[in-house]
Amino acid sequence: MTETVRARILIVDDEQGPRESLRMILSPSHEVLCARNGSEALEVLQTAPVDLVTLDLNMPGVKGDDLMHTLRAEYPELEIIVITGYGTLESAAEGVRAGVCDFLQKPFDVVQVTAAVTRALSRRRGRRRLVGFLESLGDLVGRESDVRSVLRELSAKPGLRDEASELLETAGSAARQDGSAGQRTVQFLELLALTIESQVETMRGHARRVSFYAGMLAQRVGLSSGEVERVRIAGFLHDLGKIGIPSGLLLRPDALEPDELSLVQRHPEIGARLVQPIGVSSHVVDAIRHHHERWDGSGYPHGLAGEQIPQLARVVTVADAYDAMNSDRPYRSALDPERVRQELEAGVASQFDPELAKEFLLLVESGACDEDVQATASPWALAESQDRSGGAGRAADAAEGDAR
Ligand SMILES: [Fe+2]
Ligand SMILES: [Fe+2]
Repeated sequence: MTETVRARILIVDDEQGPRESLRMILSPSHEVLCARNGSEALEVLQTAPVDLVTLDLNMPGVKGDDLMHTLRAEYPELEIIVITGYGTLESAAEGVRAGVCDFLQKPFDVVQVTAAVTRALSRRRGRRRLVGFLESLGDLVGRESDVRSVLRELSAKPGLRDEASELLETAGSAARQDGSAGQRTVQFLELLALTIESQVETMRGHARRVSFYAGMLAQRVGLSSGEVERVRIAGFLHDLGKIGIPSGLLLRPDALEPDELSLVQRHPEIGARLVQPIGVSSHVVDAIRHHHERWDGSGYPHGLAGEQIPQLARVVTVADAYDAMNSDRPYRSALDPERVRQELEAGVASQFDPELAKEFLLLVESGACDEDVQATASPWALAESQDRSGGAGRAADAAEGDAR
């Protein structure tokens, strides 16, 4: 359903008076169907797709609350507004448990009905866009089964699902308003990144830590506050494209075949393509796309070299490599601190922007990377924490690596 298509609303009420007044209120803007009882309602639903049901709880025959549970179970995407003449707290609580969106008590007025219907349809639009977005991940990467598991996880947690769909609902307009990454857009993407991370144990915590290190490095080398914010966002989202990579490849302890490796190496491009349509800053998109380029030009996806590589991507690369070396990988254990330092030094001017790598080494040596980054939840919380301490953090749990 889009803004321009009329929503289809089914009014279920045994009393003619309220049924007719609802029909009169709603029919100028929506397509309205009516049912006098639960069995009629189920018949209608079998023949016509419906967006929203207004449901009288007090009906003869199939009871309103039984119908409510049936609708929830059989039509999980349906929005339900309960309208009741005896709206007790118990029926409200029961409705909330059953996933009902709103309650209206008889006698209702036009304003209350219109507001409740608008809210419910807006939630429905948000949810459908979320589902569409997640399904497009499947189309994009041909890994539908894992997209389904993300969807399952989302639907098993109504709070998470509602939060995500509401964030998505406002995402486009927020992004359009200021021409940069709307904060709510990014919050949605964070939620998505965390949901995806939760599917692959070895990815847990990596996004958050890379965001933290990258933000710290950006601050240290004097990037503007806007750039620092964008680098934190890019750090958080840099591996989002791994949704497109079979987790078997990410988890495999031994070396990958060349064709498998090239599949893994698609993740920066997939991540950039996922984020782009949602309206985040093009600098963030570029940082995601190029976070595996190398200073000497031997990286991917485009083999850019030196300052051809966007600066924010170069910052994320250092932070990403540091976290990967500091974490257990499916194919090796975490390196000891001295070895990490040596690897960073060895990567100067081959893998890393020399200036950035040198500054990051100084941060590591200062102990700034030893705080507990897990205490902070998101780039926004990270920003506050960094502003307070000027430091960075490190967490002990396993994370995925620089290459996979
Ligand atoms: Fe990556
Ligand atoms: Fe990474």
